[in-house]
Amino acid sequence: MAIERTLSIIKPDAVAKNVIGEIYSRFEKAGLKIIGAKMLHLSRTQAEGFYAEHKERPFFGDLVAFMTSGPVVVSVLEGENAVLAHRELMGATNPKEAAAGTIRADFASTIDENAVHGSDSPVSAEREVSYFFPGEEICPRTR
Ligand code: PPS
Repeated sequence: MAIERTLSIIKPDAVAKNVIGEIYSRFEKAGLKIIGAKMLHLSRTQAEGFYAEHKERPFFGDLVAFMTSGPVVVSVLEGENAVLAHRELMGATNPKEAAAGTIRADFASTIDENAVHGSDSPVSAEREVSYFFPGEEICPRTR
């Protein structure tokens, strides 16, 4: 099994619902280690840059407006097959299609305010982690 890193964002709706700890607890119970973490209120420029690959999609403006509407918690998670393990914990992008017991099924109700983001591949994860975390802000576990 590969040890991977992935980027998690707890989005403004989930922060407003006060479920940061609940979501972190699910990561830890699944064996994912939090090796970088911070709370940010994204600027429009930061959000547009992060989601640049979606800039031609019709929902881009709404997505940027939502992601800048309040604080988010960005984290680096590390563990075995972390990218897929994290996406399984999150559930489908549309909470109405998310499996029972997933984060989106439990804490989100619409596709445009869907509680969490996770990198969709190891290549995206590398880009997304470095977008928010300079190397010195990542703290790999020594024990
Ligand atoms: S995925 O899982 O990344 O493949 O999903 P995708 O459909 O490509 O969506 C990319 C991101 O856009 C968000 N999204 C939306 N935001 C607002 N309105 C609508 N209708 C909408 N549809 C999709 C979706 O939550 C993805 O954001 P992240 O942060 O990557 O989850």
